Amino acid sequence: MKVLVTGGAGYIGSHTCVELLNEGYEVVVVDNLCNSNPESLKRVQELTGKTLKFYEGDVRDEALLKQIFAENEISCVIHFAGLKAVGESVAMPWEYYDNNLNSTLVLTKVMKEVGMKNLIFSSSATVYTADNEMPLKETSRTGHCTNPYGWTKYMTEQILSGMSHADKEWSIVLLRYFNPIGAHHSGRIGEDPRGIPNNLMPYITQVAVGRREQLNVFGNDYDTPDGTGVRDYIHVVDLARGHVAAVKYATENAGCEVFNLGTGTGYSVLDMVHTFIDVNRVAVPYKIVERRPGDIGTCYADPAKSAEKLHWKAEKTLADMCRDSWLWQSTNPMGYGE
Ligand code: NAD
Ligand code: WQD
Repeated sequence: MKVLVTGGAGYIGSHTCVELLNEGYEVVVVDNLCNSNPESLKRVQELTGKTLKFYEGDVRDEALLKQIFAENEISCVIHFAGLKAVGESVAMPWEYYDNNLNSTLVLTKVMKEVGMKNLIFSSSATVYTADNEMPLKETSRTGHCTNPYGWTKYMTEQILSGMSHADKEWSIVLLRYFNPIGAHHSGRIGEDPRGIPNNLMPYITQVAVGRREQLNVFGNDYDTPDGTGVRDYIHVVDLARGHVAAVKYATENAGCEVFNLGTGTGYSVLDMVHTFIDVNRVAVPYKIVERRPGDIGTCYADPAKSAEKLHWKAEKTLADMCRDSWLWQSTNPMGYGE
């Protein structure tokens, strides 16, 4: 079975390509490389001993998509392609709405035309409102997003569920990721952010490797056990395996279903820093600073629906995530750029 992976050269996409190839799927990738390096795909093939087909281009390019569907008998699409930096989305809202909404609209237009209607979409825990009780269930309240990035995920969920309501042939899986971190255990592929990292783990690894002086811990006065923010960190390989489960689900069930991909356990910023130091025996200097605007204290998933219906569950520990992130960073100090 052939799967089209949009954004497959990126962080989560490249790990998902590995898991798909290992499970015997054929993989076709389309990526415009606006936030990735084609070296990731070389390494995916090296790790699996299998080949994939790569089209360099934009998902908003309708002619290219038609060509891809004409040249390959695709059975399911995993749509990762999009822009993902929250702060940047506040500064460049048009670019975020254009990329994230139009890529989905063009993709689904072509899928409708060719009659292949199995789609997995990368959504985010960011669609949940800040006032929910924890853990977050798929039925928890959504909306009231605080930035354009979050709105693009919320709006795309609305667009896709509306399409599936109107046309019962669609089989759509909306995956709400919590906080993906970690890397493939080989250390050959991992997260390679451009510029100063926004997210906690890449910041920690860049401090540990000496690219940044110290970690700023954003606030220690939240209502959490140690006062620092609590999140549901999930190993990217567990997340990637969740996509393989979703492909199986989408090809066997029609309709539109939403699933949380998280572990169900929250860890604080200081839990993360201390685990990282203990597991890897490296220094991570840090200081406590003001809260980051827009952050909430605690966020973690109820992953029960995914366990029941996707037969998927995260297996890796926080120590695994810290070890694998460090192996990737320490063996590729400048990411793929070296
Ligand atoms: P990433 O930036 O590493 O990967 C996205 C890939 O899409 C990149 O390779 C980029 O070059 C490509 N791309 C972007 N726009 C494109 C376009 N118009 N046409 C073709 N290719 C395009 O990001 P990631 O962390 O792997 O995230 C993948 C998806 O998961 C994104 O949709 C993101 O919003 C979503 N997500 C990520 C996180 C996270 O914390 N990493 C959390 C929740 C959801
Ligand atoms: C985690 C914790 C910070 C950096 C973001 C997006 C979300 C999703 C995942 C895409 C928080 C603290 C962080 C630092 C710190 N992405 N922190 N110092 O904010 O939970 O989620 O990424 O969909 O939409 O908003 O992740 O890794 O930025 O922060 O203290 O330098 O680490 O305050 O408590 P977040 P994060």
